[in-house]
Amino acid sequence: MSNIGDLKIIYNKNKDNKALEELEYFSGDIIKEVRNFHNSFSEYKITPLHDLQALAREYNVNKIWIKDESYRFGLNAFKVLGGSYAIAKYLSKITGTGKLSFDSLNKALSAKDISFITATDGNHGRGVAWTANRLGYKAVVFMPEGSAEDRISNIRREGAEVIVTDKNYDDTVQLAQEYAKVSGGIIVQDTAWEGYEEIPLWIMQGYATIIDEALEQVQSKPTHIFLQAGVGSFAASIQASLIVRFGDEAPKVIIVEPHNANCIYKSAQYNTEKAQTVSGSLSTIMAGLSCGTPNPIAWKILRRYSTAFVSCPDYFAARGMRILASPTGDDQAVISGESAAVGPGLLSLIIDHQEYGDILDNLGINSDSKILFISTEGDTDPLMYKKIVWDGLYPVL
Ligand SMILES: Cc1ncc(COP(=O)(O)O)c(C=O)c1O
Repeated sequence: MSNIGDLKIIYNKNKDNKALEELEYFSGDIIKEVRNFHNSFSEYKITPLHDLQALAREYNVNKIWIKDESYRFGLNAFKVLGGSYAIAKYLSKITGTGKLSFDSLNKALSAKDISFITATDGNHGRGVAWTANRLGYKAVVFMPEGSAEDRISNIRREGAEVIVTDKNYDDTVQLAQEYAKVSGGIIVQDTAWEGYEEIPLWIMQGYATIIDEALEQVQSKPTHIFLQAGVGSFAASIQASLIVRFGDEAPKVIIVEPHNANCIYKSAQYNTEKAQTVSGSLSTIMAGLSCGTPNPIAWKILRRYSTAFVSCPDYFAARGMRILASPTGDDQAVISGESAAVGPGLLSLIIDHQEYGDILDNLGINSDSKILFISTEGDTDPLMYKKIVWDGLYPVL
């Protein structure tokens, strides 16, 4: 473990490519079904992947690619991929509809009296609300205290009932769970707990469309992928898919979290099979990563396969947002939100600051490296985005 300046990193000593049974959930056939399902929506388009050549030259690495999920289904974030697939799998299970496509599900139930319930800091709830709306179902979405107004109104615009609580994210998930029990609704949560695994696994499978597309878009295999984590479902989905695809030759995965909600980092620190919880306000500008309890399935996958776990302050994300918004040379500008840009911010700081130099060596980042980032959201809180990118809020300390 190193603790230099503001950044904390743990190199995974358990890393082992021996197959976990969870890999079966990310087989080529399943990923094909997931991708075909997403493709059945008229909004489906492969999201752009940019080759940031000038930035790669500046940082003396071979490639820097960034996949821009702000284009996903017009919803400014990747999360709909998981919620939509999980709702589809659930409906196909209860109706016996074999074919998983938007049209077949749309026709499957005439009495649409099911409510889908979820808790969210914005993006997941918007994806669930959008899917429920498209298929003609009701959605009830719980949000933690302090949720951004734009994120709330975007969910209401999808016809969902939104309940903003006076609790943090983890306690809000609890409230949504209790509400589902009492109301008889179906909880569609992007994290698992004991006895609740089927829907979260479908959600994780849904995210795999991203890496399936990205591996088609890059001209050669990445050597390193930086993945930001809240509960870790997104990162574990990508991580598992990479191991299924490449085995021992899989790219190195570096998991990145904010200090105040670094539950995966803390789990790596304790290094037990059971994931650890971070409690308190979980306060961070990276709202999508503001989660105190890892998804246990995700932790199992990340503990086995990921290369390193990083915890960093908010200004790392802010720096990433500014770099992507104002590129050098002919690079494409990317509007990357607080929860999306922490990976590029981290790379920039470990390259620019000598005290972090051993991290580059330990991760094996050098002039041959081909680095992939996934920008998981755009400016989902436009006011905060402008304060950070235009006004320089959260400067590098
Ligand atoms: C934009 C964004 N990126 C990353 C994540 C992290 O995903 P997970 O909670 O599955 O780790 C989230 C979660 O909401 C998010 O909204």
